[in-house]
Amino acid sequence: MSIADVAVIGGTGFYSFLADYDERTVDTPYGAPSAPIAVGEVGGRRVAFLPRHGRQHEFPPHAIPYRANLWALRSLGVRQVLAPCAVGGLGDTVAPGDVVVPDQLVDRTYRRTPSYVEQGAIHLPFSDPYCAGVSAAVAAGEDVKAGGAMVVIEGPRFSTRAESRHFAGEGWSLINMTGAPEAALAREMRMCYAAIALVTDMDAGAEAGDGVSQEEVFQLFRANLDRLSGLLSRAISRLPDPDGCACSTWADGIALTYEVP
Ligand code: ADE
Repeated sequence: MSIADVAVIGGTGFYSFLADYDERTVDTPYGAPSAPIAVGEVGGRRVAFLPRHGRQHEFPPHAIPYRANLWALRSLGVRQVLAPCAVGGLGDTVAPGDVVVPDQLVDRTYRRTPSYVEQGAIHLPFSDPYCAGVSAAVAAGEDVKAGGAMVVIEGPRFSTRAESRHFAGEGWSLINMTGAPEAALAREMRMCYAAIALVTDMDAGAEAGDGVSQEEVFQLFRANLDRLSGLLSRAISRLPDPDGCACSTWADGIALTYEVP
């Protein structure tokens, strides 16, 4: 029997979610995850909560143990992951305070280990990086926007104005530092995964004055934490059955060269 079947990976400013929980310390072939994992119940489902950056925000975006995090959640039995994150807005389709479920991802990271695959020919399908069923359950929330591409930069610095204008010019609407390789690793672990993006700022190309500051990102996230928690709880109670979802069946018949616990 699984210990948890749904996970929430908390982002910047989001370090706890469950009122009542047991704590699990999980070790993985990839080292320790960002923090011990809290397990409790939400909407009749067993839910694991893991703060992506650690409980004290010890891990900057480029140093998060992404492989350990996804492996640890899967080892508890998790099959559906909700991944809230702070994002900048790149165009006029979004504004600070919006919660957006993106449907596309652009990976502009360049010094993270992007995969569990270390040998063999294993190329996962990723044209639609997010789980349609889990994304729809979140997007059914009344104040949630659906769609748009999220570009993930290496960080930890914010973008220059020229970089930001370039990304906006490509038609991408959201920018973030943690959405990759997390989404691909979830797919490799045969889990459903949806990003839930809280727009904390308009990125440098759109911001007047000095551009984006860390303080404005944290402040907006703090102000929206209760709203985000409520939205996640309601989404969890609407989650579809993961059985048969393409997020888990892509590897049927493929001899994986890494362990899916
Ligand atoms: N996270 C929150 N705001 C961001 C921005 N403007 N760029 C990258 N990551 C972010």
